[in-house]
Amino acid sequence: MKEPPSLPVAPSPLVAPSPSQAHAEARSGAVARPATGRFPLAIIGPGALGLHFAARVDGIAPVALIARDAAGAARLNAGVEVGGHIFHPNAFAAERAPEADWVIVLVKAGDTAAAASTAARMRPLGVLSLQNGLTGELLRAHCAARHVDQGITTEGAYREQGDHGERVHPAGAGETLVPPGFEAVAELLGRAGLRARVEPDIAHARLAKLLVNVAINPLAALFRVPNGALLDPPHRVLLDTLVREALPVLHAHGLELDEAAAIARVHAVARATAANRASMLQDLLAGRRTEIDAITGALLRMAARTGTELPTHRAVEVLVRALESRNAERTDRVGC
Ligand SMILES: NC(=O)c1ccc[n+]([C@@H]2O[C@H](COP(=O)([O-])OP(=O)(O)OC[C@H]3O[C@@H](n4cnc5c(N)ncnc54)[C@H](OP(=O)(O)O)[C@@H]3O)[C@@H](O)[C@H]2O)c1
Repeated sequence: MKEPPSLPVAPSPLVAPSPSQAHAEARSGAVARPATGRFPLAIIGPGALGLHFAARVDGIAPVALIARDAAGAARLNAGVEVGGHIFHPNAFAAERAPEADWVIVLVKAGDTAAAASTAARMRPLGVLSLQNGLTGELLRAHCAARHVDQGITTEGAYREQGDHGERVHPAGAGETLVPPGFEAVAELLGRAGLRARVEPDIAHARLAKLLVNVAINPLAALFRVPNGALLDPPHRVLLDTLVREALPVLHAHGLELDEAAAIARVHAVARATAANRASMLQDLLAGRRTEIDAITGALLRMAARTGTELPTHRAVEVLVRALESRNAERTDRVGC
């Protein structure tokens, strides 16, 4: 059943604004809900990137923000600080998600199947993942919209827990590349001031991003260092080994980068993001599940199809999963 259009929920009096919220300029309701109840755009996953995108698009078109559950939606509707402004989104619980023309999926990779099922119920023209790792197949398995595909983004944002709630900080403007068929999404993001364009060879762009991710993300997590430290001994030899080992597999799937160019690209990203903590490191430190399966796991599955062994990537995957399990055990003990 379609949720009838209704007024945004008023901020809850039970949630006291943080000092920074109190001083933050309120920014909400710039564009009301659509009269038809069908949104031009919806974003599933109200985390760092989802809130960053939603807050930007909100100024120019109605955007539905889909949370895991009713409590999450209510928290968001009460107002959330994004980039120093209080943002009151049109937030919905997944089970009450409205119809939408286009849906962007921005949950962590491990939550893709649930998000895809939600997207399917929204009767969209297209569903676009901007997640890291490879999630397109999983999305298509759970959602049969006309266009279901994965783009890439180098936009950045991170969440921070304040005394009185969560804040989202945009962390550097990047570029969003979407597959052909998603022209309307690129246009909408562009009008919102985000750099976005259709990339005809999106498969190549995804492989190039996967190369960077399989090298930097798990190593930064295992060594607990910011990205830039991977360029120095003793990490650099492993960084370069991961690139060299991944290349033949990625070449077989269409990546056109020779070894020198591939290593240069990974080094350039590590340098450009030298002070950043990779998302996998942030996830491990916060006791969350990482995206290792959609990143290194995806590469290992590609390699397995041609019987190729990637021993260093296999070792890295085992180590990251071991750290995840240790986190999970700790959480279990706390719960006892
Ligand atoms: N952040 C960045 O700078 C960045 C840059 C490029 C790409 N990416 C990619 O973008 C994706 C999202 O990253 P992020 O940093 O925004 O993650 P995040 O902050 O962890 O946000 C994910 C959000 O999705 C929610 N969620 C989980 N399952 C859901 C479901 N079934 N329905 C609705 N919402 C659900 C989570 O809720 P809970 O909190 O309740 O779990 C959380 O609010 C990842 O694949 C990441 O690799 C991120």
